[in-house]
This record gives sequence, structure tokens and C-alpha cells, in this order.
Amino acid sequence: MLKTHSLIEPQDLTVEEIEQLFALADDIKNRPHLYQNACAGKLMGTLFYEPSTRTRLSFESAMNRLGGRVVGFSDPGSSSVTKGETVADTARMVSGYADIIVMRHSWEGAPKVASLYSDIPVINAGDGGHNHPTQTLTDLYTFHTVFGRTNNLNIALCGDLKFGRTVHSLIQAMSRYENVSFSLISPKELRLPQYLIDFLDKNKIPYKEVDKIEDAIAECDVLYMTRVQQERFADKAEYERLKDCYILDTEKMKLAKQDMIVMHPLPRVNEISTEVDYDPRAKYFRQARYGMFIRMALILKLLEVGYQPQKIRLQPTERHCKNARCICNMQQEPQQMLKVAEGVYRCLYCDYTEKDEE
Ligand code: NCD
Repeated sequence: MLKTHSLIEPQDLTVEEIEQLFALADDIKNRPHLYQNACAGKLMGTLFYEPSTRTRLSFESAMNRLGGRVVGFSDPGSSSVTKGETVADTARMVSGYADIIVMRHSWEGAPKVASLYSDIPVINAGDGGHNHPTQTLTDLYTFHTVFGRTNNLNIALCGDLKFGRTVHSLIQAMSRYENVSFSLISPKELRLPQYLIDFLDKNKIPYKEVDKIEDAIAECDVLYMTRVQQERFADKAEYERLKDCYILDTEKMKLAKQDMIVMHPLPRVNEISTEVDYDPRAKYFRQARYGMFIRMALILKLLEVGYQPQKIRLQPTERHCKNARCICNMQQEPQQMLKVAEGVYRCLYCDYTEKDEE
């Protein structure tokens, strides 16, 4: 049984639990008929406050293939959100109806709040520019399936490293495997957030920051392309200027190793030219399919954990989180800037970190 009740960030699962999920996903992939009624009678509530096609369809396909059912919304305009209901109340209410909740939200930390109030497991299907742990499971399962390993990998992350939540979760998850290194390819405006640079330093994970694909493509095992996250830009002119900063084409692919792979969480906009799709090293569509199997495994394992009454009452901290996109600055959630080291405070919901001046 999993130790966690909900999957909110990648570290909620241990490395051993992830291995168990891989084994289960492999079996589901190879013998799907054995699982077609595994979730009969179970209900999944999908609360998508932010647009999603892939992730939502992936979860819905996963639950349907397990014989379970799905209720929910994909357009917050049609839910009580427009009446002003809080995430905490929606989570409490849905946990009286369904057996598992999948939530996507543009506010960072919203699924964390839901998990604190929900009696049933909550899966974070993406919270703002913060985390996307099931995409990370998809990515790890792709490494496992293609390479047969999740260690000894040089991963080049390219594009919007500032707002790209898939990148944030992947870095955290990979920190637990041996001999992993990163190339961070981005324009300076879209650099990785400082808390993750600190994370890489603290965990002694080798990385280099470069601004051209050509500076990293020859040595990488994985080139992980990302979309520039239009919806998170306050300044639309800046988005227009940066949106096509990287385009992977067949010319650049000539510089890469024969056994490297190209991944992308999708949707692709312009960052991978369609000619690359015909290169056997392009794995992004297969990656999306693997995502469905690993989500099936995750749903099964979290349903085993099942119903657990939550009785929390958080006391607000004196310090305030200064992330304007954090749920605690959107709704009446108590501030939770917790001390994580001497003079270092971190928001429980969104990871915003503040250090005392020395
Ligand atoms: C990603 C996401 O939503 O963060 N997509 C996905 O989950 N399939 C990447 C993106 O939207 O660019």
C-alpha cells in the first residue's frame, strides 16, 4: 500500500513505490483484460479549473479502462466556482460523492489545499506553474520503458523553464537517482526558478545553464522540449517575443546521439518541427500513451489507500507568502510559511521560499 493518501508533488512517492507503479503499469500494458473491471463501482471526480485536453483525457481513459466511472467538470464557468465556492469546500463536498479526485488549477497549491480537506485521495493534475507529478510519472515511466533505467541520464530541458511545471516536478523526482545531470536550455527571461536552482545545488546534481540547443544536444540522452506557457505571462508582448525561441528541426537532430530520445509533455506549438516526428528518436506521442498506463497504476494504488477522514486545523503563520499566484493569496487559506532551515521559510502550498538577511 502507498504511504501517501494523495499525490501532490513528486516526492510524495518513494523510489520503491515508483518502481511498484512501473511494474503494475507494465502488467496493465501487457495484460489489459485482467484490469478491465478492477475499478468497477468506483467513481473519479475530475475538477479541471484550467483547460486541459491530454491530461484530462488520459485520466478519463485510464479510469474507463479500469471499469470505473468519471464525473466532473472541465470548464469552471459551469461549476459553483463562479458562485465563490472555495477549493477546500469543493474538495470536502466531492469527497462525499466520489472515491478519488483529480484536480487541475491555475492557482499554485490548490490541489494541496484540496488534499488537506478531502477524505479521499487527491491527485494534482497540474497547479499553475508549480508541479505536475503525474506528468513526471509519465516521463519516468518513459525512461523506464525506453532505456530500461531511470538513472545514468543526461537530460536537456529546453524552453520555458520558469513556468513549465512539468520541468519543475521532473527535476525534483530525478534528484533521487544516481548519476543524473541536466542541461538547462532557456532564454534568461525563462530561467529555472531560484528555489529549484538551490535544490540542484543542495542535492549536488550537476547542471549547466545554456541558451542554445546546440550547446547541449550532442551529449544528452533525453532532450525534453517544452512549450512557452502563454497563459502565465503577465506581459503578452514578452510572450510574443519569446514564443519561438527554440525550434527543434532535423538539422539540429543531426547533432544528437543515435540513442537519445526527444520528449515533450504536449501540446506542441512550434517548438518541434513536424519533420522530427518521423525520426525514430521522437518519443512524445508514445510518451503520452505510457502516461495512461502509469495513471491506471496510480489510480489503482491510491484507491487501495481509500477513504481517510481529514481533521486538520492550520494555524496561520506570521510570515506571508509573496507568490501572487499562490492559493493562500487568492482565498482565505491560512498563511503557511514554514521554517525549513535556520532563517529559511517555505510556503506549504506553493514552495515560495524566503531567506532572512544575514
Ligand atoms: C503540460 C501541462 O499542462 O503543464 N501538458 C500536459 O500536461 N499534457 C505542458 C503544457 O501545457 O505545456
